[in-house]
Amino acid sequence: MSTLYDPITLGDIHLKNRAIMAPLTRGRAGESRIPNDVMAKYYGQRAGDAGLLIAEATAISEQGYGWPGAPAMYNEEHEQGWEKTTKAVHDAGGKIFLQLWHMGRVKDESTYQDDEKAVAPSAIAASKDIRRASGKAYPEPRALEAGELPGIIDDYVESAKRAMRAGFDGVEVHCANGYLLDQFLRDGSNQRTDEFGGSIENRIRFPLMVVEAVVKAVGAGKVGVRISPTNPFNDMHDSDPAALFGAYAKKLDALGLAYLHVMEPIKEDHPFSGGALHITPIIRKIYQGNLMVNGGYGLKSANAALEEHSAEAVAFGVPYLANPDLVARFKAGAELNTPDQATFYAGGAEGYTDYPFMGGKEEAA
Ligand SMILES: Cc1cc2nc3c(=O)[nH]c(=O)nc-3n(C[C@H](O)[C@H](O)[C@H](O)COP(=O)(O)O)c2cc1C
Repeated sequence: MSTLYDPITLGDIHLKNRAIMAPLTRGRAGESRIPNDVMAKYYGQRAGDAGLLIAEATAISEQGYGWPGAPAMYNEEHEQGWEKTTKAVHDAGGKIFLQLWHMGRVKDESTYQDDEKAVAPSAIAASKDIRRASGKAYPEPRALEAGELPGIIDDYVESAKRAMRAGFDGVEVHCANGYLLDQFLRDGSNQRTDEFGGSIENRIRFPLMVVEAVVKAVGAGKVGVRISPTNPFNDMHDSDPAALFGAYAKKLDALGLAYLHVMEPIKEDHPFSGGALHITPIIRKIYQGNLMVNGGYGLKSANAALEEHSAEAVAFGVPYLANPDLVARFKAGAELNTPDQATFYAGGAEGYTDYPFMGGKEEAA
């Protein structure tokens, strides 16, 4: 029976344990969008502890960028900035993937250039229950022309190639949490009448084309995909998430990816919950490859999921944000640090690299 502490191979990547750091947007790259020294330190602090770190959502293009302070990966400087992080992680014996991000309709207006509009599958604004970096309501996005989609696929591919050049062990295609690819998947945001909208098969088409292109560019064993079938964040909803994400999981399974990452909280009162664990058990039956689960897990629930073969690995978000030595604390039965919500999305080292290790130390022993 597997536990969180057992090693695992996900695609081409051998991990020392099954505890994964979930991707966490922290807004520390500043206006330059270039990953910096404090980011390298933050990831390096967690690298000796987790089996795999999934670096925060990172813009694949100017069009896809829309979170002030988030990092990017579409030019030389971004690539060189990220090299600091991958070096720090590898020096500490860790592995790291980069999450590839296009924000679609929820690009913050403060990042618009000139008279640009955010783009989306359909001209439907995200109007409810949203976090807005600028404090403004989202305007109606511009519906993408089908002819623009190949260019966006190229941006994903170029960004994935840059990630591999910068030393990442792989990439995670972000199809979750109400960003562009999730906007194509779910019918609350996709009302297209061409071959990219309507039926489930049509709505899956563009996200799948992106994943296939990234797989072709860097190899299936270096690619993960993240989905969040029931997460209502960014005003997302779908008429039949079980059928939609079941069908998508089946297509993804055929690609032989490193993993499929399902964010669906185990608790109904979790901020990203749309009803606890409705879809994950369905996906488990369909998806034969490595499944990673996330959302409200602790040591006990993570081990239960692994023992029951509900998943092969478990990702922790807020617990890793606040505990650079999470696995060591689990092993020792130690208390966890309290997360500071005020510093989640912005700031400098405070609430970022200053969470203490066990025993109050500033660095790993
Ligand atoms: C501060 C913060 C930033 C996040 N940024 C991202 C992100 O960049 N990409 C992503 O897919 N999910 C993101 N999420 C969601 C987390 O990866 C994770 O799914 C969520 O926190 C639930 O897991 P947990 O209960 O272990 O914290 C973020 C969550 C938080 C709290």
